[in-house]
Amino acid sequence: VKVEFLDYEAMESRGWQLTDDDLFEKAADDELGGEAYGYFYVEENETLLEAAEDEGYAWPFACRGGACTNCAVAIVDGEMPSPASHILPKELHDRGIRLSCIAAPTTDAKIVYNVKHLPAIRDLLL
Ligand code: FES
Repeated sequence: VKVEFLDYEAMESRGWQLTDDDLFEKAADDELGGEAYGYFYVEENETLLEAAEDEGYAWPFACRGGACTNCAVAIVDGEMPSPASHILPKELHDRGIRLSCIAAPTTDAKIVYNVKHLPAIRDLLL
């Protein structure tokens, strides 16, 4: 499946919000590139984090086992089911937050990575 991605810090520095309807249109129109915005493909049996690493991207992670939230991403469009075991509070899961080390999109998707800088997740990390 194809994943279009945007870096949370690049988004925040431009004053954009996760809830902006045209978030990815703005990202595509901007001079973003490199690590901040782009796309790649996720193979079957690969996690989203592994797929990003295969492309040479250094996305944040620590435990690689669904236990720390350093690797959190936000699904803006598409489906990314979580395995039964993960530590995300239901409220964050309901808002589309996922852990890239233990899951992958099952449909083409738009995701914001690096959301460990989102205040609600930063609090979990402290
Ligand atoms: Fe720790 Fe994914 S790296 S939850």
